Amino acid sequence: MPNAIQPFYTVHSRHSSLVLDCRGTAPAILYWGARLGEGTSPDMLALLATEQEAPACPPEQAPISLSPELGAGFQGNPGIQVHRQGLQWAVNAQIESVTQNNTYFTIVSICVGTQVRITHRIGLDIDSDMLIASTELCNLGDNNLWVEQCNAPSIPLPMDHNKIMGFQGRWANEFQRHSVDRFMGTYLRENRSGRTSHDSFPGVIIHTEHCTESAGHAYGLHLGWSGNHRIRIEEQFTGRAYAQLGELFCPGELSLEPNKSYCSPVLYGASTNSGLSALSGCFHRYIRSKLTDARMAGKSKSVHFNTWEAMYFDLSLQRLKALADSAAQVGAERFVLDDGWFKNRKSDGAGLGDWFVDQGIFPDGLSPLIDHVQARGMEFGLWIEPEMVNPDSDLYRAHPDWVLSAEPAPVILSRHQLVLDLTRSEVQDYLFDCIDKLLSQYPISYLKWDMNRIINQPGDAQGRAVTHKQTVALYKLLSRIRGAHPQLEIESCASGGGRADFGILAYTDRIWTSDSNDALDRLAIQKGFSMFFPAELMGAHVGPKDCHITGRSISMATRAGVAMFGDMGIEANLLDMDAEEKAELAAAVALHKQHRQLIHRGDLVRLETQQFENSFGVVAANREEALFSYGLLASSPNTAPGRLHFRGLDADQLYRVNIIWPLQPSSSSASILEIINGSVISGDALKNAGLQLPIMQPETLLIFHLQQS
Ligand code: GLA
Repeated sequence: MPNAIQPFYTVHSRHSSLVLDCRGTAPAILYWGARLGEGTSPDMLALLATEQEAPACPPEQAPISLSPELGAGFQGNPGIQVHRQGLQWAVNAQIESVTQNNTYFTIVSICVGTQVRITHRIGLDIDSDMLIASTELCNLGDNNLWVEQCNAPSIPLPMDHNKIMGFQGRWANEFQRHSVDRFMGTYLRENRSGRTSHDSFPGVIIHTEHCTESAGHAYGLHLGWSGNHRIRIEEQFTGRAYAQLGELFCPGELSLEPNKSYCSPVLYGASTNSGLSALSGCFHRYIRSKLTDARMAGKSKSVHFNTWEAMYFDLSLQRLKALADSAAQVGAERFVLDDGWFKNRKSDGAGLGDWFVDQGIFPDGLSPLIDHVQARGMEFGLWIEPEMVNPDSDLYRAHPDWVLSAEPAPVILSRHQLVLDLTRSEVQDYLFDCIDKLLSQYPISYLKWDMNRIINQPGDAQGRAVTHKQTVALYKLLSRIRGAHPQLEIESCASGGGRADFGILAYTDRIWTSDSNDALDRLAIQKGFSMFFPAELMGAHVGPKDCHITGRSISMATRAGVAMFGDMGIEANLLDMDAEEKAELAAAVALHKQHRQLIHRGDLVRLETQQFENSFGVVAANREEALFSYGLLASSPNTAPGRLHFRGLDADQLYRVNIIWPLQPSSSSASILEIINGSVISGDALKNAGLQLPIMQPETLLIFHLQQS
């Protein structure tokens, strides 16, 4: 016999509490936020939440339940939208059972009218405080159920969370933040690109008016999914508001046969009452403890050398070997051969699909290059773009029917390529075999898995849209490859940061953050990225002096000082670099290696700055050590910037302060640069009094090292 349904269910994590309200027919969040004390009962919370009857409305409003229901009269967007030939759409379920497993609940509800079973899974991760939630729908009827929406559980938003921080972007400028005042109506972001997307990252932060990096209330929400999605923040006329994130389906895309189920992507949520850096800390802790694969735990990330901006498609064994020599000299630990190595790949116009080593460039296969790379103490990595095919390829000539389309509409090429239908088993098998052969034949420890076009014609051979299935099939392929090659590391890339989400992180170990290696643009890109992802996942390369994408010329000190705070790499033609620049790069790589444990494990603290500045720090968990970066992006309106107020330190401890980058910070007259090194100052003073910054040139930065003394 299932236990009787209780009116409330409560769980606590280290700093948060979640209280579910099961008094009605549908479960709802009664409270999610700072951890509540023992003296607080759910009845008190329910009492405090008492609503008044709104004029010109039914006496009771339909609740913002985990899946708000059309059948219950919900006026906003329903959590679940289904029908059977236009009938049986009025979802109005009844809770059947609630089970608890540690800090997670499984709530099963049945809707007799629509003949569906709804299973909500929701709870808190104890250590990271992350809210984890999903909605599963099962067709209990004896005919097909059409599913138009099945969102992850809806999150009620307090009235004072009236600011929306969303994320927008484009190729080479991802993770840009925008700020919108919440309004009566709907803030809606929709992604139909068939991948996570550059322009609509599946995450949003809803916060109070005066929320800063170090103070204020906020909810951060992220959908762990690498396909189409929808983010909705809706405020109703009554003042009630909710956030709803879920997968976006094309017309007719999801139809469940009897007894078949669909489960929404997982919603990840963070809640804070101490500002945005703490919010990010929750996401970072969860990734580090739960999403980072066990084989990466405790392993140092390798400094990359990537051939793309050094060589593009102009590959030759001799030059690759010369680049490998230079890469090893400046301290690279992994040499990644990017695009251009496979059959007939002379440009982006041909070759995708033919995953065989080009005999013209590599007459003896990849071994001579890999041997050369390994002899210099580096691992070898390879670029690949398995989901795609060029019409000019042997694969397409043999199987023109293997691609997705939107027939009878004309096929749209993008970067001269089409998308393979991964939902076909023969396509999966072909790709697995090609990749498996490469990985078995050569000691390749790393794949950069790229995906360079949107899926805007997602129809399979039967004409049905399959974006959902394609995303699941991608996960399956990645999982199969990882299963066969457990030590392999994989980077998630989609023309830069187009596939960055918690879903893909179950199969990948690094994210290529952006194709822009412009260090100044990168600061904003990396800042947005850091809202959800920690530094060790953030591919960050030192590009050429004149950035290939923006044309901007940036010093090595700044380029390296920015890349150092991620999973560092180099992506420039070292053969063109003069000795001085190479020596500076080598020093930066050495500095990164010296501090990468801290950078890749520490707590990120973003500092509030003005438009023309950028500043953040990484503080060790025990507060004994920290690195802080201060960048002046443009000319300062005053002679010198103001003071740098370090945060996250232990107020009572003394820290020895050193400026460790650039190698020779320049100063025209005596300044803090001359006197600060080696000084011992309290955490208290560093925070509250702050350090007077020197006069700086625009587009330069300083990195401070603080060590408890
Ligand atoms: C994409 C990637 C780049 C590079 C090229 C190769 O644009 O984001 O880093 O690998 O493809 O074609």
